[in-house]
This record gives sequence, structure tokens and C-alpha cells, in this order.
Amino acid sequence: MKEIKLLALGDVVRTVSCDYVSKRLWAFRKEHGIDIVVANGENSAENSGIDRQSADTLLSYGVDVITTGNHVFKTYEAKALLDENKYIIRPANYPEALPGYGYTLFDAAGKTFLIINVMGVVMMEPLADPFSAVEKILERNKGKYDISVLDVHAEATSEKRALGLYFDGKIDVIFGTHTHVQTADEQILPRGTGYITDIGMCGPDNSVLGVDAKCIIEKLRMHTPVKFTVSGTKITAHGAVFTLDANSGKVKSVERVKF
Ligand SMILES: [Fe+2]
Repeated sequence: MKEIKLLALGDVVRTVSCDYVSKRLWAFRKEHGIDIVVANGENSAENSGIDRQSADTLLSYGVDVITTGNHVFKTYEAKALLDENKYIIRPANYPEALPGYGYTLFDAAGKTFLIINVMGVVMMEPLADPFSAVEKILERNKGKYDISVLDVHAEATSEKRALGLYFDGKIDVIFGTHTHVQTADEQILPRGTGYITDIGMCGPDNSVLGVDAKCIIEKLRMHTPVKFTVSGTKITAHGAVFTLDANSGKVKSVERVKF
């Protein structure tokens, strides 16, 4: 029975991690028979955010669609980038007047994927209601896609799980990003959605969310501004592979992966 495999990669942290992913992703795709790759690139630029160089690196070396989050507008060129490339998307619940889209359609393995990006609002910026934002996108794209995917970029595990269960059976694949630490709750929800609260990050192992621990410790202890530098330790790419039945479109398994 033919399968479709989607790889979701967690937040790619800065240039060193873009380079790391770019050197290994094609081999991983080939070895595991991956049909489509979605990666969160909101921290991929050298000073966080996303820029032309980081987007080009990821899209040239095996990433098909880049999702983002709260750092998306951090670089000056981000607005132009979102306008120019429909495969780089931003959270759908930002104000509509901003450039870019909260979703995209991408064809792979003979199917059309609807990829949606939304941001949580618990302990984050007070954006519009993520539940309604996603519902509107599903409604607008009715009949235009075969498989739906949602990246919930959020701080609170409770909010991610609530969104997961609310859209269980309505969206095929739901994964969380932003907290950079992979959770061990990969599962198929009661109505068939493949789900994991956070897929982790592609970044340095011995760090605090990719940043050199010394910077974060100083900030937490001294409560003064600190320039964050990326940790120079060994990098690991974390993510999850969602395997779907090509005929029914149903998720058969969710597997945490790292390389
Ligand atoms: Fe984030």
C-alpha cells in the first residue's frame, strides 16, 4: 500500500543550523522516502528572524515550505520575502494588513497539501484568536486540497493540545513549534489527526534553546540586556515524520526523528 511521508523540522536556529540541515537533509529524505518537508524558519537568520540567505539555504537543500512565528518580522527583508515567495508563510492570526499569508498550497506525491501556520496567544503577543483564524483558512480552501497540515507556534503546551484536539479529524497533521524542546506525546488523536505538541529544534545540543547558555544565565541572574550568541556546540536536527495512507489520506503513524 502506497504511503506518503511528511517530515516536519523544528525551529532551525541561525546560520550554523541552516548549514547543518542543508548538508544532511537530501540524504535523510532519500533514506526515509520523504515526500514533503516543512520546516520552521523563524530563527534561521544570523540574528534570528528569517532573511533571504537563510530562506534560500533551506529551500535549496530540501525544505519545501517554511513556516514561521513570533520572530518572522524581525529582519528588514522579511516583509518582501513573504510577498515574493508563497512557500514562506507567517502565522495566520497576525493583522491581515501585513504582507504574506498564513497558509500555502504545495503539490507533492500527487497530492495537494494545505499548510497552515498559526501562533498561540497564551504567554505570547495578543494576536487574533488562532482557532477562528485556522477555521477561516479551512473554509476558504474547501475542495482545493487533499491533505492538511498545521504548525502551531506557541508557548503553552495546553494551548497546543487544545488546538490539536479542537481540529482533530479536521486537519490531518498538527505539530507544535517555538519551545525548541521536543515532547514525547506523538500520537494519533481520537478522530485521526497525527499530533505532537512540539517537534523540537534544529540547533546546538548544549545550549538554552540554541543560545549559548552563558548569555541566558547572565540575563536570568542579572536582569540586564544581554547580546545572545548562538552556542558553538554539536548540532542536532529534531522533527517528526508523519506517514499517511496515500489512498485514504489518513495518518498511519507519527515518529519523532533526529539526525
Ligand atoms: Fe518562536
